Amino acid sequence: MALIRKGKQFPWQHKHLLGLRELSTEEITYILDTAKGFEQISTRPVKKAPPLRGKVVVNLFFEDSTRTRNSFALAAGRLSADVIDFTQKASSVSKGETLLDTAKNLEAMGIDIVVIRHSAAGAAKFLSRNINACVVNAGDGYCEHPTQGLLDVYTIRKIKGSLKGLKIAIVGDIAHSRVARSDMWAMTKLGAEVIFVGPPTLMPTEVSRLPVSVSYSLDEVIEKVDVVNMLRIQFERLGGNPFPSIREYSHYFGLTVERMKRAKPDIMVMHPGPINRGLEMESEVADGKNSVILQQVTNGLAVRMAVLFLVNQAAAQAS
Ligand code: CP
Repeated sequence: MALIRKGKQFPWQHKHLLGLRELSTEEITYILDTAKGFEQISTRPVKKAPPLRGKVVVNLFFEDSTRTRNSFALAAGRLSADVIDFTQKASSVSKGETLLDTAKNLEAMGIDIVVIRHSAAGAAKFLSRNINACVVNAGDGYCEHPTQGLLDVYTIRKIKGSLKGLKIAIVGDIAHSRVARSDMWAMTKLGAEVIFVGPPTLMPTEVSRLPVSVSYSLDEVIEKVDVVNMLRIQFERLGGNPFPSIREYSHYFGLTVERMKRAKPDIMVMHPGPINRGLEMESEVADGKNSVILQQVTNGLAVRMAVLFLVNQAAAQAS
């Protein structure tokens, strides 16, 4: 696994991963290539490698998570780091402590990388400007979820070979989705055409300024696309009622067995999770032969190992 070549400049310079919008195509590709090198560690009898030995990674999660949090904890452990798993509910945040005070107190214990999930857009960027540790964004409000975007394009690249020329539909609650935004940046930078699909009430207000096309009909696009990424309806973020009924949403925008009959035979069906089964997609589709949903989760581990490795390397180079 030749990740650093002697005599060549290290091609990754960032000690933080805040979003994919600001990364170049080359930088995204470099992360994906690095992740490929890490994939085989998880298949060994002893699933450990030493790059982060002696380093401390804090999972600083202010919102619930199953996939991202456990995946980062496992990724850090596989690279031999010590992991602190912070949850807001069991912390002094409930007594009024601020985000920055929380992070600075953890930093005083000698941490190296903070992985943060927060409901406020910009929380990761704010921390990166105010602490010395590396900061990795694990989801900030509606803004970005960069490691989800990376694992999504990693999964597509692994199955399709390349994203160049692919048509990808991202369907559902785009307005409240940080996944849609990170996916959009990564997919378009790697050469795919992205179509946002959903009801007008779930489209972001700035959609005309984004590098995507828009459709209000899943039936219109389902036959044309190579990949369909179904987003979760984020009920916890909805102010009012964006559609008349769950049944109506599912009728027009759900990925049903019936709709799948009109899709390309090799269409990739993706979902970042957690799935509202029967709403965004029928169970037969979620568990069907075109579904790569669990492969996304598996690939997330290698991608997060790569991200932790690279930010740590960049910090070491900068010091
Ligand atoms: N995809 C994703 O972010 O899932 P979790 O909320 O479980 O981390």
